[in-house]
Amino acid sequence: MTIHPALVPGHIAVVTGAANGIGLAAAKRFAALGLKVCLADLPGEALDAATAEITAAAPGGATDVLTVATDVGDLAAVEALKAAVYARFGAVHVLMNNAGVGKGGGAFANMDGWKRVLGVNLWGVINGVQTFTADMIAQGAPGLIINTGSKQGITTPPGDTAYNVSKAGVKVLTEGLQHELRNTDGCQITAHLLVPGFTYTGMTGRAEKPDAAWTADQVVDEMLRGIEAGQFYIICPDNDVTSETDRKRIQWAAEDVIQNRPPLSRWHPDYKDAFAAFMAADE
Ligand SMILES: NC(=O)c1ccc[n+]([C@@H]2O[C@H](COP(=O)([O-])OP(=O)(O)OC[C@H]3O[C@@H](n4cnc5c(N)ncnc54)[C@H](O)[C@@H]3O)[C@@H](O)[C@H]2O)c1
Repeated sequence: MTIHPALVPGHIAVVTGAANGIGLAAAKRFAALGLKVCLADLPGEALDAATAEITAAAPGGATDVLTVATDVGDLAAVEALKAAVYARFGAVHVLMNNAGVGKGGGAFANMDGWKRVLGVNLWGVINGVQTFTADMIAQGAPGLIINTGSKQGITTPPGDTAYNVSKAGVKVLTEGLQHELRNTDGCQITAHLLVPGFTYTGMTGRAEKPDAAWTADQVVDEMLRGIEAGQFYIICPDNDVTSETDRKRIQWAAEDVIQNRPPLSRWHPDYKDAFAAFMAADE
Protein backbone atom coordinates (compact mmCIF):
# COMPACT_ATOMS: atom_id res chain seq x y z
CA MET A 1 0.00 0.00 0.00
CA THR A 2 1.28 3.48 -0.84
CA ILE A 3 2.20 5.52 2.23
CA HIS A 4 1.83 8.82 0.36
CA PRO A 5 1.60 9.69 -3.35
CA ALA A 6 5.02 11.37 -3.16
CA LEU A 7 6.62 8.17 -1.87
CA VAL A 8 6.32 5.97 -4.94
CA PRO A 9 8.95 4.19 -7.02
CA GLY A 10 10.79 6.45 -9.48
CA HIS A 11 10.21 9.62 -7.48
CA ILE A 12 13.14 11.61 -6.13
CA ALA A 13 14.12 12.35 -2.52
CA VAL A 14 16.79 14.79 -1.34
CA VAL A 15 18.02 14.24 2.22
CA THR A 16 20.44 16.54 4.00
CA GLY A 17 22.52 15.17 6.84
CA ALA A 18 22.22 11.84 5.02
CA ALA A 19 25.62 10.46 6.00
CA ASN A 20 24.59 9.48 9.53
CA GLY A 21 21.78 8.87 11.95
CA ILE A 22 18.21 9.82 11.12
CA GLY A 23 19.08 11.17 7.65
CA LEU A 24 20.88 7.97 6.69
CA ALA A 25 18.00 5.82 7.95
CA ALA A 26 15.48 7.97 6.04
CA ALA A 27 17.54 7.88 2.83
CA LYS A 28 17.83 4.11 3.09
CA ARG A 29 14.08 3.77 3.59
CA PHE A 30 13.29 6.05 0.65
CA ALA A 31 15.64 3.95 -1.50
CA ALA A 32 13.98 0.73 -0.31
CA LEU A 33 10.61 2.23 -1.32
CA GLY A 34 12.01 2.61 -4.85
CA LEU A 35 12.72 6.34 -4.79
CA LYS A 36 15.86 7.77 -6.35
CA VAL A 37 17.83 9.37 -3.56
CA CYS A 38 20.16 12.33 -3.42
CA LEU A 39 22.41 12.33 -0.36
CA ALA A 40 23.68 15.69 0.84
CA ASP A 41 26.15 16.02 3.69
CA LEU A 42 29.62 17.34 4.38
CA PRO A 43 32.30 15.56 2.37
CA GLY A 44 34.17 12.72 4.03
CA GLU A 45 34.30 9.05 4.88
CA ALA A 46 30.82 8.96 6.42
CA LEU A 47 29.26 10.32 3.22
CA ASP A 48 31.22 7.81 1.12
CA ALA A 49 30.13 4.93 3.36
CA ALA A 50 26.51 6.12 3.27
CA THR A 51 26.64 6.26 -0.53
CA ALA A 52 27.77 2.62 -0.64
CA GLU A 53 25.07 1.59 1.84
CA ILE A 54 22.22 3.39 0.02
CA THR A 55 23.43 2.12 -3.35
CA ALA A 56 23.16 -1.42 -1.97
CA ALA A 57 19.62 -0.71 -0.71
CA ALA A 58 18.42 0.96 -3.95
CA PRO A 59 16.64 -1.43 -6.35
CA GLY A 60 18.29 0.38 -9.29
CA GLY A 61 21.72 0.55 -7.65
CA ALA A 62 24.14 3.37 -8.45
CA THR A 63 21.98 4.87 -11.20
CA ASP A 64 19.35 5.74 -8.61
CA VAL A 65 21.72 7.37 -6.10
CA LEU A 66 23.35 10.77 -6.31
CA THR A 67 25.72 12.12 -3.70
CA VAL A 68 26.46 15.83 -3.51
CA ALA A 69 28.89 17.05 -0.86
CA THR A 70 27.04 20.04 0.58
CA ASP A 71 27.38 22.46 3.46
CA VAL A 72 23.73 23.33 4.03
CA GLY A 73 24.69 26.56 5.75
CA ASP A 74 26.08 27.86 2.47
CA LEU A 75 23.28 29.07 0.15
CA ALA A 76 25.45 28.73 -2.97
CA ALA A 77 26.17 25.10 -2.05
CA VAL A 78 22.45 24.37 -1.61
CA GLU A 79 21.74 26.00 -4.97
CA ALA A 80 24.44 23.79 -6.50
CA LEU A 81 22.80 20.78 -4.83
CA LYS A 82 19.50 21.66 -6.49
CA ALA A 83 21.18 22.12 -9.86
CA ALA A 84 22.89 18.74 -9.53
CA VAL A 85 19.74 16.85 -8.58
CA TYR A 86 17.61 18.43 -11.32
CA ALA A 87 20.38 17.79 -13.87
CA ARG A 88 20.54 14.12 -12.88
CA PHE A 89 16.91 13.26 -12.00
CA GLY A 90 14.80 16.17 -13.35
CA ALA A 91 12.53 16.61 -10.31
CA VAL A 92 12.35 16.56 -6.51
CA HIS A 93 9.33 15.03 -4.75
CA VAL A 94 10.69 14.77 -1.21
CA LEU A 95 12.99 17.28 0.47
CA MET A 96 14.16 16.37 3.96
CA ASN A 97 16.02 19.25 5.59
CA ASN A 98 17.58 17.23 8.37
CA ALA A 99 21.25 18.19 8.81
CA GLY A 100 21.90 19.31 12.34
CA VAL A 101 24.58 19.90 14.95
CA GLY A 102 24.54 20.43 18.70
CA LYS A 103 26.72 22.11 21.32
CA GLY A 104 25.72 25.68 20.64
CA GLY A 105 25.89 27.34 24.01
CA GLY A 106 24.17 29.25 26.77
CA ALA A 107 22.52 32.62 26.31
CA PHE A 108 25.67 34.66 26.84
CA ALA A 109 28.41 32.17 26.01
CA ASN A 110 30.12 30.57 23.04
CA MET A 111 29.37 33.00 20.21
CA ASP A 112 31.16 30.70 17.74
CA GLY A 113 28.90 27.85 18.81
CA TRP A 114 25.81 30.02 18.24
CA LYS A 115 26.96 30.88 14.71
CA ARG A 116 27.75 27.25 13.89
CA VAL A 117 24.49 25.84 15.26
CA LEU A 118 22.24 28.51 13.77
CA GLY A 119 24.18 28.32 10.50
CA VAL A 120 23.48 24.60 10.08
CA ASN A 121 20.23 23.98 11.95
CA LEU A 122 18.29 27.11 11.02
CA TRP A 123 19.99 28.65 7.97
CA GLY A 124 20.45 25.17 6.52
CA VAL A 125 16.68 24.67 6.60
CA ILE A 126 15.95 28.21 5.38
CA ASN A 127 18.38 27.67 2.48
CA GLY A 128 16.70 24.36 1.59
CA VAL A 129 13.18 25.78 1.74
CA GLN A 130 14.09 28.93 -0.23
CA THR A 131 15.98 27.00 -2.88
CA PHE A 132 13.65 24.06 -3.56
CA THR A 133 10.04 24.99 -2.73
CA ALA A 134 9.01 27.04 -5.78
CA ASP A 135 10.33 24.44 -8.21
CA MET A 136 8.68 21.61 -6.29
CA ILE A 137 5.32 23.44 -6.47
CA ALA A 138 5.81 24.11 -10.19
CA GLN A 139 6.21 20.39 -10.88
CA GLY A 140 2.45 20.07 -10.22
CA ALA A 141 2.91 16.72 -8.47
CA PRO A 142 2.50 15.60 -4.86
CA GLY A 143 5.52 16.35 -2.72
CA LEU A 144 6.78 16.53 0.84
CA ILE A 145 9.07 18.95 2.65
CA ILE A 146 10.10 17.41 5.95
CA ASN A 147 12.10 19.59 8.33
CA THR A 148 13.74 18.01 11.37
CA GLY A 149 13.04 19.97 14.52
CA SER A 150 13.42 18.98 18.15
CA LYS A 151 11.46 18.93 21.39
CA GLN A 152 14.14 21.39 22.54
CA GLY A 153 12.61 23.86 20.08
CA ILE A 154 9.22 23.49 21.78
CA THR A 155 9.86 23.08 25.51
CA THR A 156 13.25 24.90 25.35
CA PRO A 157 15.03 23.26 28.32
CA PRO A 158 18.03 24.97 29.92
CA GLY A 159 21.49 23.96 28.71
CA ASP A 160 21.92 24.63 25.00
CA THR A 161 19.94 27.79 24.30
CA ALA A 162 21.52 28.19 20.86
CA TYR A 163 20.25 24.74 19.82
CA ASN A 164 16.79 25.54 21.24
CA VAL A 165 16.68 28.81 19.28
CA SER A 166 17.67 27.02 16.07
CA LYS A 167 14.99 24.36 16.49
CA ALA A 168 12.31 26.84 17.60
CA GLY A 169 13.16 28.68 14.38
CA VAL A 170 12.73 25.49 12.35
CA LYS A 171 9.30 24.96 13.95
CA VAL A 172 8.14 28.51 13.18
CA LEU A 173 9.54 28.41 9.64
CA THR A 174 7.88 25.08 8.90
CA GLU A 175 4.53 26.24 10.32
CA GLY A 176 4.66 29.36 8.15
CA LEU A 177 5.70 27.31 5.14
CA GLN A 178 2.75 24.92 5.53
CA HIS A 179 0.36 27.86 5.87
CA GLU A 180 1.67 29.31 2.60
CA LEU A 181 1.62 25.96 0.81
CA ARG A 182 -2.00 25.25 1.72
CA ASN A 183 -2.96 28.72 0.49
CA THR A 184 -1.17 28.35 -2.84
CA ASP A 185 -3.52 27.44 -5.69
CA GLY A 186 -2.87 24.03 -7.15
CA CYS A 187 -0.04 23.32 -4.73
CA GLN A 188 0.40 19.62 -3.97
CA ILE A 189 3.34 20.03 -1.60
CA THR A 190 2.89 19.73 2.15
CA ALA A 191 5.37 20.58 4.88
CA HIS A 192 5.92 18.48 8.00
CA LEU A 193 7.83 19.03 11.22
CA LEU A 194 9.62 15.86 12.32
CA VAL A 195 10.39 16.00 16.02
CA PRO A 196 12.54 13.06 17.09
CA GLY A 197 12.74 12.04 20.71
CA PHE A 198 16.01 10.82 22.19
CA THR A 199 17.54 8.90 19.29
CA TYR A 200 20.75 6.90 19.16
CA THR A 201 22.84 8.54 16.41
CA GLY A 202 26.20 10.22 15.96
CA MET A 203 24.77 13.16 17.88
CA THR A 204 24.23 10.98 20.96
CA GLY A 205 28.01 10.73 21.32
CA ARG A 206 28.00 7.27 22.95
CA ALA A 207 29.47 3.96 21.90
CA GLU A 208 26.35 1.95 22.82
CA LYS A 209 22.67 2.70 22.48
CA PRO A 210 21.24 3.95 25.79
CA ASP A 211 18.09 2.03 26.81
CA ALA A 212 16.11 5.27 26.75
CA ALA A 213 16.89 6.00 23.11
CA TRP A 214 15.02 4.98 19.99
CA THR A 215 16.96 3.90 16.93
CA ALA A 216 16.99 6.11 13.84
CA ASP A 217 14.91 3.42 12.09
CA GLN A 218 12.19 3.78 14.72
CA VAL A 219 12.12 7.54 14.07
CA VAL A 220 11.74 6.88 10.34
CA ASP A 221 8.91 4.39 11.04
CA GLU A 222 7.14 7.08 13.07
CA MET A 223 7.83 9.70 10.38
CA LEU A 224 6.23 7.54 7.69
CA ARG A 225 3.30 6.68 9.98
CA GLY A 226 2.76 10.41 10.62
CA ILE A 227 2.98 11.25 6.92
CA GLU A 228 0.51 8.50 6.07
CA ALA A 229 -1.85 9.92 8.71
CA GLY A 230 -1.46 13.44 7.25
CA GLN A 231 0.13 14.87 10.41
CA PHE A 232 2.05 18.13 10.31
CA TYR A 233 3.61 17.67 13.76
CA ILE A 234 5.27 14.26 13.91
CA ILE A 235 6.40 14.08 17.52
CA CYS A 236 8.24 10.88 18.33
CA PRO A 237 8.26 9.34 21.77
CA ASP A 238 11.27 7.30 22.91
CA ASN A 239 11.78 4.45 25.37
CA ASP A 240 11.59 6.81 28.37
CA VAL A 241 9.20 9.52 27.23
CA THR A 242 5.66 8.64 26.20
CA SER A 243 3.48 10.73 23.89
CA GLU A 244 1.32 11.56 26.91
CA THR A 245 4.38 12.92 28.77
CA ASP A 246 5.35 14.97 25.73
CA ARG A 247 1.85 16.46 25.46
CA LYS A 248 1.90 17.50 29.11
CA ARG A 249 5.40 18.99 28.94
CA ILE A 250 4.42 20.99 25.85
CA GLN A 251 1.23 22.17 27.56
CA TRP A 252 3.16 23.23 30.67
CA ALA A 253 5.65 25.21 28.57
CA ALA A 254 2.86 27.00 26.67
CA GLU A 255 1.12 27.81 29.94
CA ASP A 256 4.21 29.65 31.21
CA VAL A 257 3.13 32.37 28.79
CA ILE A 258 -0.61 32.15 29.44
CA GLN A 259 -0.24 32.17 33.23
CA ASN A 260 2.68 34.61 33.19
CA ARG A 261 4.86 32.22 35.16
CA PRO A 262 8.64 32.67 35.07
CA PRO A 263 10.16 31.26 31.85
CA LEU A 264 11.29 27.63 32.04
CA SER A 265 9.24 27.25 35.23
CA ARG A 266 9.52 23.48 34.79
CA TRP A 267 13.09 23.87 36.04
CA HIS A 268 12.33 26.59 38.66
CA PRO A 269 12.48 25.38 42.27
CA ASP A 270 9.32 27.35 43.20
CA TYR A 271 7.34 25.37 40.62
CA LYS A 272 8.86 21.93 41.25
CA ASP A 273 5.87 20.59 43.20
CA ALA A 274 3.27 22.17 40.91
CA PHE A 275 4.96 20.68 37.85
CA ALA A 276 5.21 17.25 39.48
CA ALA A 277 1.51 17.40 40.43
CA PHE A 278 0.56 18.48 36.90
CA MET A 279 2.50 15.58 35.39
CA ALA A 280 0.99 13.09 37.85
CA ALA A 281 -2.62 14.23 37.34
CA ASP A 282 -4.92 12.30 35.02
CA GLU A 283 -5.88 14.21 31.90
N1 LIG B 1 19.58 12.27 17.96
C1 LIG B 1 18.64 12.87 18.66
O1 LIG B 1 18.36 12.49 19.83
C2 LIG B 1 17.88 14.02 18.04
C3 LIG B 1 16.77 14.51 18.76
C4 LIG B 1 16.04 15.55 18.21
C5 LIG B 1 16.40 16.09 16.99
N2 LIG B 1 17.49 15.59 16.33
C6 LIG B 1 17.80 16.20 15.04
O2 LIG B 1 17.84 15.19 14.04
C7 LIG B 1 18.65 15.63 12.95
C8 LIG B 1 19.61 14.52 12.56
O3 LIG B 1 20.52 14.35 13.62
P1 LIG B 1 21.08 12.92 14.06
O4 LIG B 1 20.64 12.68 15.44
O5 LIG B 1 20.80 11.91 13.01
O6 LIG B 1 22.64 13.29 14.16
P2 LIG B 1 23.90 12.80 13.31
O7 LIG B 1 25.04 13.56 13.87
O8 LIG B 1 23.98 11.31 13.32
O9 LIG B 1 23.58 13.30 11.83
C9 LIG B 1 23.60 14.65 11.47
C10 LIG B 1 24.23 14.77 10.10
O10 LIG B 1 24.22 16.16 9.71
C11 LIG B 1 25.44 16.39 9.03
N3 LIG B 1 25.81 17.80 8.99
C12 LIG B 1 26.33 18.56 10.00
N4 LIG B 1 26.61 19.80 9.55
C13 LIG B 1 26.28 19.83 8.23
C14 LIG B 1 26.34 20.82 7.23
N5 LIG B 1 26.81 22.05 7.50
N6 LIG B 1 25.91 20.50 5.98
C15 LIG B 1 25.45 19.27 5.70
N7 LIG B 1 25.36 18.28 6.61
C16 LIG B 1 25.78 18.56 7.86
C17 LIG B 1 26.47 15.57 9.80
O11 LIG B 1 27.65 15.37 9.04
C18 LIG B 1 25.69 14.30 10.06
O12 LIG B 1 25.87 13.35 9.03
C19 LIG B 1 19.34 16.91 13.41
O13 LIG B 1 18.68 18.02 12.87
C20 LIG B 1 19.17 16.87 14.92
O14 LIG B 1 19.19 18.15 15.48
C21 LIG B 1 18.23 14.56 16.82
